[in-house]
Amino acid sequence: MIQVSTIQDIRDARKKLKGRVGLVPTMGYLHAGHISLVEIAKEHSDIVIMSIFVNPSQFGPNDDLEAYPRNLEHDFELLEQAGVDLVWLPTNEIMYPKNYQTWIDLDHIPQFLEGRQRPGHFKGVSTVVAKLINVVQPDLAVFGQKDAQQVAVIKQMVRDLNMPVEIAVGAIIREPDGLAMSSRNSYLDVKHRQAATVLYQALQDAQTKFQKGERRAEAIRKTMTDTINNEPLAKLEYVSCANLDSLEELENISTQALLSMAVYVGQTRLIDNLVLGEE
Ligand code: PAF
Repeated sequence: MIQVSTIQDIRDARKKLKGRVGLVPTMGYLHAGHISLVEIAKEHSDIVIMSIFVNPSQFGPNDDLEAYPRNLEHDFELLEQAGVDLVWLPTNEIMYPKNYQTWIDLDHIPQFLEGRQRPGHFKGVSTVVAKLINVVQPDLAVFGQKDAQQVAVIKQMVRDLNMPVEIAVGAIIREPDGLAMSSRNSYLDVKHRQAATVLYQALQDAQTKFQKGERRAEAIRKTMTDTINNEPLAKLEYVSCANLDSLEELENISTQALLSMAVYVGQTRLIDNLVLGEE
């Protein structure tokens, strides 16, 4: 596996690669969820590139950037096993050199859900993803459905800026008890890890209501809220039953809806989501 860091090195390496290139952008501390995105990239491309960059511009003043988990040695083991061809590890100075000034900020989608709770987060995400795509110039870039709003933001940006890249989305990969895989799960001790299963439970309870015929979005949101509130170690930040594309809250579900939530389990903020209804 080739490792590069500077823009010149990744550009030079990219030029030598023949065939369709798939990019999997990550912030490292890899788990099976990331590897499932590599598998998708492999399926649809000849060459797979992963970027690992803990992007400071998507962390707010209350997010602990320094504490974000990192383990490059373990990441490399997983990447070798998964058959990634090239890993790009830029530094902060490479991505945001002195006098850096250009930002991508979407008008509408970031106003909801995660964007409302974490002002500026998606400005950091869309900017860094645009830069990663500009430098690598992949044919395909793969992102996880776990960050559903991030997917919506990136798809919109790619459309708006006519970026010549296909976006693929990998399903949420869950632990056997339903907890969505996330680098942040490593913050949970045994007691909180057990309590964290409440997020998926809440989504399932809402899905059961929907399957029994409930179509009022407020009733679906209440079901999720009640389940979360029943877990003493969990503190609900928001629940949502929203339009899949615009992310605006729904009154009634006609065909599909995005159920999502952010919940503090102890000090750890977790998110999860599920798409209700058939396409
Ligand atoms: O999902 C992530 O890990 C990050 O938000 C991403 C897409 C790599 C941008 O920093």
